[in-house]
Amino acid sequence: MRILLYRADGNTAPWIKDFADFLPEAEVVVWRPGVELAPCDYAVLWTPPQDMLADLARVKAIFLTGAGADAIMKYAQAIPPHIPIVRLNDAGMGMQMAEYVTYAVLRYFRRMDEYEAQARAGAWLQLEARDKSDFSVGVMGVGALGSHVVEALRPFGFPLRAWSRTPKSLPGVECFHGTEGLDGFLGSSRVVVCMLPLTEETSNILNRANMQKLPQGAYIINVGRGAHIAEPDLLPLIKSGHIAGATLDVFRNEPLPAQHPFWQEPRITITPHISALTLRRESVEQIAAKMRQHMRGEAVADTINRDKGY
Ligand code: NDP
Ligand code: OXD
Repeated sequence: MRILLYRADGNTAPWIKDFADFLPEAEVVVWRPGVELAPCDYAVLWTPPQDMLADLARVKAIFLTGAGADAIMKYAQAIPPHIPIVRLNDAGMGMQMAEYVTYAVLRYFRRMDEYEAQARAGAWLQLEARDKSDFSVGVMGVGALGSHVVEALRPFGFPLRAWSRTPKSLPGVECFHGTEGLDGFLGSSRVVVCMLPLTEETSNILNRANMQKLPQGAYIINVGRGAHIAEPDLLPLIKSGHIAGATLDVFRNEPLPAQHPFWQEPRITITPHISALTLRRESVEQIAAKMRQHMRGEAVADTINRDKGY
């Protein structure tokens, strides 16, 4: 079996080593622009360069080294529909998301952002405690990763909300779904955590009109994709006080350009797309198991539904 591997960072050696451990029968071939290759069975990559599409159109299945499929779905037309595109399911990302989002929620709830600023100014001042019953946390997207986050938040006793495409029932969580459930979800989420895949339906979902539906003083945490937020609409809403602040891990343009106004806004906390990093060994183990599934002629779990886009 031959696997075509592409890494944007060029660091392929550790991946080849892990494939040798989990799939010793496979030969791993590194994709390089302009180099003609013998046909491969499977491709492993996350953000394909355009020049790779012709090679991708010839494999039996494509395995992504990320949970989100948006980077390849923009080229979906070039990849014949019979070729499954398979994403990672958790592979160690659920725990990382739980850590990141819980930290961001608690930091804001316990006013640590304000205490950090006070400490920098040498100010000793106790601020009023926030009322937990008035501090609902709404998670947009409760799939593999979002459901982990909901479970991680549960012990803290915040009123929890969830929004998904299809109906869900999560114990102790007020669940909303579909466009018809969006206003109710937004209106009752003091903190909104975006954990959606980027699709035609979810692009710009946090636009000005929708952010205005959040309660006064709401807080936004975005770990989905930058294009979920209408970036130019966020700053005026923060300046007006309607949105109290945001923790953002993802941006329309990454790295976030040095001149981007978000860098200058102290109420926005920025991290460089690290809320859940791909853990290589866990990912290779999962991909190897799914390749075996495919070789046995079984349906492969976590295949992207091209109509839905995730
Ligand atoms: P899943 O596919 O498991 O879950 C997606 C969730 O979003 C589901 O609950 C789904 O609803 C919901 N959803 C999708 N479309 C809509 C819609 N139109 N309206 C309402 N809800 C919708 O994905 P994961 O949990 O594995 O990953 C989610 C995203 O997290 C990734 O696509 C990626 O963008 C992002 N991510 C970011 C990382 C980072 O480091 N910042 C790392 C990893 C992922 P339903 O359950 O009804 O299908
Ligand atoms: C992913 C990501 O989708 O890292 O896996 O963003």
